[in-house]
Order: sequence, then C-alpha cells, then structure tokens
Amino acid sequence: MNILRPSIICTVAFTIAGLLTGCNKPSSVPGAGDDTIKVGEFASLTGSEATFGQSSHNGTQLAVDEINAAGGVLGKKIQLLTEDDQSQAGQSATVVRKLISSDGVVAILGEVASSRSLEAAPICQQNKIPMISPSSTNPRVTEVGDFIFRVCFIDPFQGTVMANFARKTLKLQNVAVLTDVKSDYSVGLAKFFKEGFTTTGGKIAAEQNYSGGDKDFNAQLTSIKAANPDGIFVPGYYTEVGLIALQAKQLGLTIPIFGGDGWESPSLVQIGGAALEGDYFSTHFSPQASTPAVQNFVKKYEAKFKDAPDAMAALGYDSALILADAIKKTGSTDGTKIRDALAAEKDFPGASGNITIDANRNASKPAVILEIKNGAFQYVQTVAP
Ligand code: PHE
Repeated sequence: MNILRPSIICTVAFTIAGLLTGCNKPSSVPGAGDDTIKVGEFASLTGSEATFGQSSHNGTQLAVDEINAAGGVLGKKIQLLTEDDQSQAGQSATVVRKLISSDGVVAILGEVASSRSLEAAPICQQNKIPMISPSSTNPRVTEVGDFIFRVCFIDPFQGTVMANFARKTLKLQNVAVLTDVKSDYSVGLAKFFKEGFTTTGGKIAAEQNYSGGDKDFNAQLTSIKAANPDGIFVPGYYTEVGLIALQAKQLGLTIPIFGGDGWESPSLVQIGGAALEGDYFSTHFSPQASTPAVQNFVKKYEAKFKDAPDAMAALGYDSALILADAIKKTGSTDGTKIRDALAAEKDFPGASGNITIDANRNASKPAVILEIKNGAFQYVQTVAP
C-alpha cells in the first residue's frame, strides 16, 4: 500500500508529536488542530476502478505537498487523510462518515465515480462539510445541496460532445448504446448522448444493458450485431469497456466503439488490446496539450510519479488547490465560510483549465477527444462548451 504511506506517516508523526508534548490531539475545534488543517479524501485505491482512485490520489497528494512546501494555509500544514472505498457500493458512506465524525476533517475531496460521490454527498451536506468531487460528471451530484462542488464539466455537455463527434466526424447514422445500469454515470451519459445524437438526425439502432462487474457481453453484442449499427456508444468504465471491445471483435463487429471519460485508464488497453485500435473517447485533459499550465503540471507530476498524469490526476490536483485557495481567501476553516468562498471562485488557474464555479457549483470547461492508436491515447481535438 505504497500509496497510503504519506498520510500514514503524517498521522504517525502527528500522534508521536502529541505524545511528546503531552497535548491531547485532535483539538476540540473540528479539523483545526494546533498545527494542521485536516482534509479528507475518499478514493477507489483498490477494486474494479483502482486506477481512477490512484491517479486522483496522486494528483491530490502532489497539490497538498506543494501547498505545504510553500508554507501551508493560514500558517498551518494541510494533513490529507485518505480512505480507500475499494470501488465498492456502501463503502463511500462508511469512510466519509468516519472522516467527518472521528477525524474531524474540514472538507472532503472525492470521488471520481458519480455513484460514489452521490453516496457521500448527502452526508457532507447534512454535516455542512464542503465536498469537492474532482471528476464526477453526473449532474445530480452537485444537486444534492449547496455544500457539494465539482471542478469538472457535467454529462449533458459530455454527451453532446460525443453525439456531435459521432455525427460530424465519424459520420455515423445509426448507433447502438450499451449502458451499465448499475452506474449513475453510465445511465446519465447514455441518456444525454442519445438526446444529442437523435436531435442531430441520428438514429439509435439498439439499446442494451449490463451491470458493472459483468464479464460476458456476448448476448448484448449479438443483439447489437443483429441491429446492424454503424457504431457502438459505450458509456462505461474501463474494465468492462476493455472486455466489450474484445468480445465485439471476436463476434466480427468491426464498427467503431466510442465512449466517455470512464474509459481513461492505462488498464483499458491492457484489457482490450488491439481490439480498441481506432476507438475514441472524450475526457477532461490531455498531457499532450501545449499550454504552459498543462506542461508545468506534467513536468511536476512526472518528476514525482515517473509517469504521465491523466485526467483524474489533473482534476484531483485542482480539487485540492481550489480548496486551499478558498480556505486562504476566507481566512477560516468553518465549513459554511469555505462553502461561500468556493462558490465565489472565478477563473482559478488549474492544471485542467481555468475553473469558474457556476450557480449550480459545477465548472464549465472544454472536453478533449482522444483516439486509441498503437496502444496509446492520442489527442484528437478540444471542444469548448
Ligand atoms: N466522470 C466519471 C463519473 O462521473 C468518472 C471519471 C472521471 C472517469 C474522469 C474517468 C476520468 O463517474
């Protein structure tokens, strides 16, 4: 569990310091210990979406390290308390309750997956603890209440982007949609894609469902093949998408498969291999973009993790930076004050682009489209909102 080491070390150091000085930590003011500000993070560090949580955590940790190296916030270091929800339903609620009630964090960062953000958001809202999802795109996440924010775009936009790309660039007329009915993200993105695709004259040839965790998609793909579509939209997560691409090719389906940000993982190509060549997905960020903000972030991330950052890393980084900025601006760790400062953030310069929090606590940002080429993700185009 390499990934948890920094926060464990912090906690151990903190406890030893407390014992040595004889003071009883944590202090009675929640989250505001004498020398640290506690921030909670929940992420899928293990399980079926492990690469989401690991990337997001790396970006978040990088931001916290930078903030602390520059002196911290309000004269205190940020202490990041990270909990693994194991990619499992039910775990997010448990770990977020613990972060708030036992650890006394002042804010929560997480999650990547919309269903897990939706699980934790009501708990944060009830406790008046601001929550910032780095990358959950289902619109309902921030509708939970006025303490819930995100630093990414939402799926009505992402669905439209991929509908237009399918119509105009891929010139598709008749597509099949294969949805993970267990995932709020997948159900939402399927709906917004279909609306966009049919509004511009396209037809939905077939609709099939699966459940996250499934391994055999032959029945659905056989029905899809019988409907004779010219493309398949799969708004799923990488583990299932990789298997779907493989099994589609085995059934002789050579039409393009395309999807959204849930595809983004180094494991996608490990699972799907050559079956994914020439397929496309939309996401939030490409390390190939030449802007100074992106290149500066890529350099720092690669120096620390010896790997290129992906969208989750960039958005995790931005979620921690904007939280620190809001705490600085309001001069307080009070949840309601942090909420007000977050709501007022405008043009915050993030690694994933400039972030302005709108009236619904979402961020309107461009999407990027990537193609899978020679086993790597190749930048295709940026689509502005
Ligand atoms: N947007 C996805 C969701 O809401 C999560 C995700 C974000 C996946 C970014 C990959 C990259 O569930």
